[in-house]
Amino acid sequence: MDRFVIEGGKILKGSVTASGAKNSVLPILAASIMAKGASVIHSVPDLQDVRTMLKILQYLGAKVSFKNGTVEVDPQAVNKNDAPYEFVKTMRASISLLGPMLARSGKAKFSLPGGCIIGPRPIDLHIKGLQKLGVDIKIEDGYVIAETKGKLKGDYIFLGGAFGSSVLATANVMCAAAVAKGTTVIEFAACEPEISDLANFLVKMGARIEGIGSPCLVIKGVKSLRGAEHRVIPDRIETGTFLLAGAITRGCVAVEKCQPIHLGAFLEKMSETGIEICAGKDFIEIKGKNEWKSTDVVTLAYPGFPTDLQAQMMAFLSLADGVSIITEKVFPERFIHVGELNRLGASISLDGSKAIVKGVKNLFGARVMASDLRASAALVLAGLAAEGTTHISRIYHLFRGYHKFEEKLMSLGAEIKREKDTI
Ligand code: UD1
Repeated sequence: MDRFVIEGGKILKGSVTASGAKNSVLPILAASIMAKGASVIHSVPDLQDVRTMLKILQYLGAKVSFKNGTVEVDPQAVNKNDAPYEFVKTMRASISLLGPMLARSGKAKFSLPGGCIIGPRPIDLHIKGLQKLGVDIKIEDGYVIAETKGKLKGDYIFLGGAFGSSVLATANVMCAAAVAKGTTVIEFAACEPEISDLANFLVKMGARIEGIGSPCLVIKGVKSLRGAEHRVIPDRIETGTFLLAGAITRGCVAVEKCQPIHLGAFLEKMSETGIEICAGKDFIEIKGKNEWKSTDVVTLAYPGFPTDLQAQMMAFLSLADGVSIITEKVFPERFIHVGELNRLGASISLDGSKAIVKGVKNLFGARVMASDLRASAALVLAGLAAEGTTHISRIYHLFRGYHKFEEKLMSLGAEIKREKDTI
């Protein structure tokens, strides 16, 4: 396993280009198997999760190629309808194949995704939504076994759960509804830009979807879908992470070819801390300061503050002047990074789903361990700002979700080495 060795204290300056959004491309690749012909997807980031999804598509029988950021998927020879544990265990987003598989062949056998480091990840909403469309679902030996009774049939579906809407449940139900008989109304649909991106891809495939971007989707089922060409939207979480890298090192970083409109809640919070932001149609520039103010953050479904930026924001607020309270409303247990940030000198305590972040003057390099994708990014940010050397083990988590992460950071002046871990 590799680790990062970061020499902290370098001021980051310059610009990077946003990569395609991980959370768009995964359900889009999954949806491509519903078509009668091949699809071409551009702006695909080279991520471990993307590689895993392509492996699953190949396992199912699809022909796949990935060159220079473009993926072609020809699903004509798809002849399997199961996703084994080996795949699902490394990438929970493989659940986004459930709806497309049912749409394609009426059957799907899926290893049940277990709990994970960011907390329990139930799939009751996926099951409820698909059952409404006429799918029989049972759980046996750790597998979800789903089969349509006759044809998929449109219905009214209220998809809200205890924590609000679900991104991938919306993706699954929308995909299955695209080819269901009649009209489906999904109430309390997730409004994340990645869901709109998937919906726009489905529309290019011939689907009839109204209300894209709103919590009420109306889907008029069509008989079949064709292959389509699509460019994935920029990754808003990657964009936010690089802007925070600029701010936490008191530097000046711009992210180009991003979509500022997808980062409203994040930019609002950054400006509350006193950081200067300049945003245009497709770029955001952040000018760091020597000192910044604390602020309170509540993570929520889009357009609220994204849970996927919570850990990185916490790293930044750990150096703010004052106390910040971060309330995690999407995954209330998503605080695994707190202990590691404290090892770097942060002063963060937990009270249920709230983290109380008392700003400190400095962070100090230490040995820490990455535990999940965004928690790892938070440790990198803290390491960049810390005095001295930070060693981060288990960095493979980062490569699940950040395209050329260290290259991009180094192009801004960060001093990061990747080396074999000794522990
Ligand atoms: C997606 C994102 C992930 C992000 C999350 C929340 C992808 C590939 N992953 O994950 O990066 O952190 O959205 O923005 O897009 N829930 C239920 N029942 C369900 C499903 C979810 O109660 O059947 C709950 C979850 O436990 C959580 C909340 O709903 O509390 C939101 O989860 P959800 O939106 O489903 O996350 P994912 O789609 O898995």
